[in-house]
Amino acid sequence: MRQSNNLVSLTINDQQLTVKKGYTIFQAAKENNIYVPSLCAHKDLTPFGGCRICIVEIKGKKKNPTACTTPVEDEMIVYTNSESIQKERREILQLILSEHPSGCLICNEIEDCEKFQGTIRKVGATTGCMWCPNDGDCELSKVVEYCGIDQLDFPALYRGFPLEKEEPFFDRDYNLCIYCSRCVRICHEQRKSSVLTLKQRGKYTTIGAAFDQSHIDGNCEFCGACVSVCPTGALSEKYRKWAGVPDKYTPSICPACSMQCDIQVLSKGDKIIGTLPPGEPHLSGGELCVKGRFTLSQLVNHPDRLKEPIFKYPEGDGIVSWDTAIEKAKESLSKYSGEKAAIYISPNLTTEEFAAIKIFANKVIKTSYITSSALNKNTISFLNLVKKSTTLNRIKKADCIVSIFLNGNYNYSPLTISIKSAAEKGIPYIQIGFQKDTTSRFARLKLTPTLCNENLFFKNIIKSLKSSKNVTKEIEKLIDILNNSSSPLLIIGPGILDLSQSEQIIL
Ligand code: SF4
Ligand code: SF4
Ligand code: SF4
Ligand code: FES
Repeated sequence: MRQSNNLVSLTINDQQLTVKKGYTIFQAAKENNIYVPSLCAHKDLTPFGGCRICIVEIKGKKKNPTACTTPVEDEMIVYTNSESIQKERREILQLILSEHPSGCLICNEIEDCEKFQGTIRKVGATTGCMWCPNDGDCELSKVVEYCGIDQLDFPALYRGFPLEKEEPFFDRDYNLCIYCSRCVRICHEQRKSSVLTLKQRGKYTTIGAAFDQSHIDGNCEFCGACVSVCPTGALSEKYRKWAGVPDKYTPSICPACSMQCDIQVLSKGDKIIGTLPPGEPHLSGGELCVKGRFTLSQLVNHPDRLKEPIFKYPEGDGIVSWDTAIEKAKESLSKYSGEKAAIYISPNLTTEEFAAIKIFANKVIKTSYITSSALNKNTISFLNLVKKSTTLNRIKKADCIVSIFLNGNYNYSPLTISIKSAAEKGIPYIQIGFQKDTTSRFARLKLTPTLCNENLFFKNIIKSLKSSKNVTKEIEKLIDILNNSSSPLLIIGPGILDLSQSEQIIL
């Protein structure tokens, strides 16, 4: 039966389905809980069709296309697991495995090994069995299990690539890479960083920054999106790689900056072992920055972190119980109350912590004096400006974006990705500041004020808006872009607070 213009009716494994027009067979199957094994497909990335594991049989077609690149058609009849498809799929998978150390995947001791974890390493320096950083959490092993591979019919090749461990946050072992290119695509398509590419040819193919640069030199932001989507142990977190498979994923919010990105906290027993972007592990690159992705568990578990209250006795510091600490704090604080008391807070508090302190100050101490090392006349004028500001969603409506002292390197990921996406769509982006950052490559115009004379720079812009006399070429371009914009958006970064003249500029 023919459906409305926006729907398509097809059959997958004898199941009658109706899905949106434009879906691929893979999407249609997934939405209807029909498993099609895949390695290179990813919900947030354009189909690549590289691994060919998702091949399907379509009635009336001679060749077996990949489900992740083939759009659904009305009255299509698809088989995802017929005998001939499974046979062809097993051969494709064996070819992939012939270049991937597979001791952990097809060893005949696999069952005992899973029970007792007693098998010694078989292949490579850090691969095989329990020595793979992805042991127990590997998409490739799930596909091998589904296809029922228990031996290799092709000669195995260990490529012998050196381990890349010299950069922070994650290690790279391209002996485990299956060239699915998820890492390359997420870096380019979602993060807009374009650090990674496929390098060399044939058996020497690896992934990395162009011209054999290090990731740092290739402008990697260490956001970890590539690590999150890697279906094998080729990319592995330095801190978490030997912590094992988490037994709990708890949704939470990153406390490391004002963006408050959604995260999931990974724990094993009572220990936090890592953080990931929200969503299915391996299938969510997310918008976290290096702080939210890699540093939170290290901060929580840092040996220098204070985990118990410490009381200062005359004879020295001593650990006390929470009950004792609260009693002692109550005793000391009861001597002070009202406007004679002031509360000094850290500038790194979360909104919730700040709200709790405000209640404590008002109701318990009865003071309105709350101050912080970050509070000075510059920050007060900045905060007044923030009160008038808008939300990040506004960026979608802007027809011109100007960032001022933003410095988005390793910071404010959702914001910098939005700027880059808008600029990619042709929205003019103007960057004003001293430093290059991850958005600089997308800027139509970059303006650098003279150091310690920034106020004059902004005054000149204001003057030029009124009269075009004695205007530099760059400012002329800026005025031209602004004059052609009906909905410009100004993004002011905290870098402005570091300037000696910041108060005048903000005002
Ligand atoms: S960490 Fe982020 S920026 Fe660096 S290569 Fe991976 S995806 Fe690209
Ligand atoms: S490093 Fe991982 S994500 Fe990148 S191509 Fe290799 S297997 Fe795929
Ligand atoms: S941008 Fe980074 S630090 Fe800020 S909330 Fe998101 S992950 Fe955390
Ligand atoms: S998942 Fe379809 S070709 Fe790789």
